[in-house]
Amino acid sequence: MSITGKTAPGPKPINNILSQIQLMSEFDRDAFGVVAAGFRDHGDLWQITVGGSQQVMIAHPDHLHQVLVTDADKFTKDANYKNTNKGLARFMGNGLVTSDGEFWRRQRKLIQPSFHAKRIEAYAETMVDHTLAQMRQWRDGAALQVDHEMMTLTLNIVVDALFKADVSEDAERIGAAMDAFQEMQKNQSQLVPAWVPTPGELRTRQAIRDLDAIIYRLIAERRARPHDRGDLLTMLLEARDDDGHGMTDVQIRDELVTLFLAGHETTANSLNWTFILLSQYPQVLARLLDEIDSVLGGRTPTLADLRALPYLDQVIKESMRLYSAVPAIGREAKEDVMIGDYLVPKGSTVTLFMWVTHRDRRWWGEDAAEFKPERFAPEREAEIRKYAYLPFSAGPRVCIGNSFAMMEMRLLLASILQRWTFDLIGAVPKAEPLITLRPQGGLRMTARARSVAAAAQVEDALLTV
Ligand code: HEM
Repeated sequence: MSITGKTAPGPKPINNILSQIQLMSEFDRDAFGVVAAGFRDHGDLWQITVGGSQQVMIAHPDHLHQVLVTDADKFTKDANYKNTNKGLARFMGNGLVTSDGEFWRRQRKLIQPSFHAKRIEAYAETMVDHTLAQMRQWRDGAALQVDHEMMTLTLNIVVDALFKADVSEDAERIGAAMDAFQEMQKNQSQLVPAWVPTPGELRTRQAIRDLDAIIYRLIAERRARPHDRGDLLTMLLEARDDDGHGMTDVQIRDELVTLFLAGHETTANSLNWTFILLSQYPQVLARLLDEIDSVLGGRTPTLADLRALPYLDQVIKESMRLYSAVPAIGREAKEDVMIGDYLVPKGSTVTLFMWVTHRDRRWWGEDAAEFKPERFAPEREAEIRKYAYLPFSAGPRVCIGNSFAMMEMRLLLASILQRWTFDLIGAVPKAEPLITLRPQGGLRMTARARSVAAAAQVEDALLTV
C-alpha cells in the first residue's frame, strides 16, 4: 500500500563514494557518537540516505513497539542479516535469526519447545558443572583473559545443553571463527565486494569452512547413532513436514550454526560487561557478594537458589541496560509505513537503537549513565516505561534464548563470584559495536581468589553503603 506523509528530518544525502568512506570511518571511530548526534540534532526519528538507500533511525519506545510488535508483519530483517556476502546469512544461512515469513514461523514452532521453562531448567546443572571446570584453571593474582574465558564457557554450555555434544577441542577454531564473524561486519569492509580476496575475506572463508566441518561432523555422528537423546539436534533430525519430508543437512546446519553463534557470544559479552561494571562499583559488588554468601553459605548454586538472589537478577538487568549485548537491530519496510509523524517508504532500512533508548534520561532519569541495579527492584521495575528496556527485543522475533540466557548468567555469576572477584587491568574498555557489543581490545582482569580476608573487606565496604 502506498501512502503519503512527511519525510523524516536528517542530514543531506551522501552519494559520492568519498563521503561514504568518510561516514564509514566516522562510524568505525565512534558509532554511538554519530548515532547519538543524529538523535540530538533531528529528534526521535531521523533518516540518512547513503548511496541512494534510505536508512531510518529510531529509539523512542513507542516506535520500537510499533516496529517490533504492532506492525511487525510490515517488516522483514534487513540486509545486515540477509545479505549472503556481508550479512549474518553468510555464516548463519537461512536459520532462525535470518529467515522470515512462513519458513521462519515453521522453524520457530519446531525449535521453541527446546526453550520451554521445564526444558531449560534441566540445563542448570550442566551450566554450573562447566563453570566449576573452567574455574579450576584460574590462579590467584594471575591476569586472566576474561573475555576468552567467558566465550569458551558459554560456548561449551550451549553446545552441551542443546546438542549434547562436546566441542571443547575445537574451541580455538570456533573462537577464530567468531572473530572473523564479527570482523566481517566492520563497516569499511562493506564497500569491498566479497570476491576480493582481502585478508579479512580469506579469514571469513576459512572460518566458514571450519564451522561447517565441526557442525557437519556433529550431524553425521548423530545420524550414525540416531537414538533419541532428547536434545534439540535429535528434534531437528526427526522433524517432518506435512508431506513427511525431513530437514536437509543444510537446513539443520543453518539452525545449528545460528544457535551456536546467537547462543554464546551475546551471553559472554553480557557477562564481560557485568564484570567490568562490578569492578568499577565496589559498593554494588559488596552488596552482591553479601547476598550470594548469605544465601549459598559456600554451597554450589542450584536452580532453586536463584529465587533467593534478587539483587543478582537486578545487577544483570542493569548491566544489560547500559551494555546491551545487541545494541541495535535492523529491519526493512515491506510497504510504506507511518512511524510517528513520518513516512517510512517501502524498502527503507529501519534501525532500532536500543543502546540509545537504554540511556535516554527521559526514561531513566538524570542518573541514566550510572550503574544502579535498584532500578530493577520489583517495586520499581513495574514503573519502567514500557518498551524502554529491550535487551532481548520484543514481539514475535523476541530472543528465543531469553530465559536460557538469564538463568545461565545468574548461575554463572553466582558460581564465579562465590570464589573469585576481578580487578580490571588498565582503563575501562571502549564498547565496540560489532554484531554484538564487545569490550574493544579484549578484557584482561586480575583474578582474586576470595578468602576470609576478602570476605572481611566485603563487610567493610557494606558498612559504607
Ligand atoms: C544475554 C544474552 C542474549 C541477548 C542479549 C540476546 C539478544 C537477542 C536479540 C536482541 C534478538 C533479536 C534480534 C532481531 O530480532 O533482530 C535475539 C534473537 C535470537 N536469539 Fe538471542 N540473545 C541472547 C542469548 C541467546 C541465547 C542463549 C540463544 C540460544 C541458545 C539465543 C538465540 C537467539 C535466536 C535463535 C534468535 C532469533 C529468534 C527469532 O527471530 O525467532 N539468544 N537475541
